[in-house]
Order: sequence, then structure tokens, then C-alpha cells
Amino acid sequence: MHRVVFNQKGGVGKTSITCNLAAIGASQGLRTLVIDLDVQGNSTHYLVGEVDAEQFPAEAQGVAGLFKQTVGSRKMRANPDSFVWETPYENLYLMPSSAHLGQIEKDLEARYKIYKLRDALTKLDDEYDRIYIDTPPNFNFYSKSALIAADSVLVPFDCDSFARQSLYELMDNIDELQEDHNPDLEVEGIVINQFNAQARLPGALVEELKAEGFPVIDTFLTSSVKMRESHYEMRPLIYLAPSHKLTQTYVDLHKRLEKGLRRRSKR
Ligand SMILES: Nc1ncnc2c1ncn2[C@@H]1O[C@H](COP(=O)(O)OP(=O)(O)OP(=O)(O)O)[C@@H](O)[C@H]1O
Ligand SMILES: [Mg+2]
Repeated sequence: MHRVVFNQKGGVGKTSITCNLAAIGASQGLRTLVIDLDVQGNSTHYLVGEVDAEQFPAEAQGVAGLFKQTVGSRKMRANPDSFVWETPYENLYLMPSSAHLGQIEKDLEARYKIYKLRDALTKLDDEYDRIYIDTPPNFNFYSKSALIAADSVLVPFDCDSFARQSLYELMDNIDELQEDHNPDLEVEGIVINQFNAQARLPGALVEELKAEGFPVIDTFLTSSVKMRESHYEMRPLIYLAPSHKLTQTYVDLHKRLEKGLRRRSKR
């Protein structure tokens, strides 16, 4: 099962949501892979900490390595799993980002490598129960590759009025991509992040989105300093603060998504 977290707006919670949902699944026994498609490498940093440049010189590592080997001779190609790293957490694995992603993007695009991630993920399906993909804040080659490779997409929304403007454009982009490349892509829903129940605006915004027919998920992630602390400590919430309110909301969100998955697979 491949779940991508995408919104072309920056800072809405893509990385936080990807890594925390993945970590919760892993802690419950699901063999889980996170793929970091963002050249910023925030998921990579969050899950495995500072990467020692000495150990990370080879283009043959991480997602960049996976993409690079699609150029040139087919004979040399390694199994996609060889680009996966362990993390400090049981059942949680990472295909890391690297600066090379930025350097090779134009070439990959020019060579029509947009379906290569989907091919690789199909090969990884026997190894992992869940694959989560973190994306950059752009509708670029990598986020398109992810949306083509995914079974479902989660859209984080951070309750600001600019976010609402970009949501229309985002949903149109997803719609077009579904039609052109991936008709089976399911919009699992909009995840409300950094929700503040005390302020008037966020609640009003969410109600308006619902009234307009957007598929808002009814578990709202509240704003908490614990999230920033979790990034700083480089430990997802389930390991850092398992009984914290935000962690428990994440657990509820995860449960809801898994339930939806089971319902869809029965159809
Ligand atoms: N629920 C929350 N409460 C408080 N802070 C949060 C919450 N969720 C995310 N943040 C903070 O907001 C910032 C952006 O979050 P995150 O990196 O997950 O967003 P992003 O969409 O991946 O950003 P980018 O577009 O740069 O990749 C981070 O500093 C993170 O700690
Ligand atoms: Mg991010």
C-alpha cells in the first residue's frame, strides 16, 4: 500500500504527518518504508539524524541512486531494496533523500523517467506492508512521480487562508494527474494540521471547506510545541512522547486511515 503526503504549499506538515503516521504503523508491527523525495531531506533528518557526508558520497544511495540507475544499461540495475536504510526503530525503514535529487531532476524529466518510481515500488510490495512518500512543496518531477506511484494521497492543510487558495489548484492538479496517469489514485482526505480550537478562523475555514465538498478528515491535529521538539530531538512522537495528546490524535488518525483501507479493500 503506497500512501503519498502532498501539498505544494510549504510548511503545512507533510514531513511531520508522513513520519509520524509511518512510525505509528511500524510501532504496531507493520513493516513500513518512508521514501523521502524532498531534496530538503527533512524526513531523512527526522528519522536518522545528521547524515555523515563521508558515508553519503555515492549517487548510488537513497532515492537519487534509485533514479540514477534508471539511466543507462539495464544490466547493472540493483534491487530497489538496496537503496533502503534501517532506522533506529523496529519495522521502520527509510529510502533517504540527498542533494543529488536536485542535480538529476531535469535529466530524469527529459528522459521520461516519471513511471520509474511506480515500477520500483511494485517491486518493494513484497517487502513492506506500508510505503509512505514525503514530497517536496512543488508540483515537480518528484511529486508527480509519487502521485503516479501511489494508491492514495493525503493532503495536509494548515488552516491559513493562503492554504485555502492553493487547495483549489492542488485538487485540480491531482484531478488531472488521476485522469492522465493514475486513475486508481484515491484522495484519502484533507488532514487538518495545526488546528487551534480557541481561534475563530480555523474552525470557520474548515466548515467552509466541508461545505464546498472537500473530503476533510474529522480528526484534527492540534498545534503543539511537542511537534517542534520531536523534530529537534529527531524522534517521532510515538517514541518521544507516546501518551501526549497530539501523539494520541495521530494514533486516532492512523486508526481511521487503516479502517478506511480495510473498507476499501473489501469492495
Ligand atoms: N501539529 C503541529 N504543531 C506545531 N508545529 C507543527 C505541527 N505540525 C508541524 N509543525 C511544525 O511546522 C513546521 C513545518 O512542518 P513540516 O516540516 O512537517 O511541513 P512540510 O509541509 O513538510 O514543510 P516543507 O514544505 O518545507 O517540506 C515544522 O517546524 C514543524 O515542527
Ligand atoms: Mg517537508
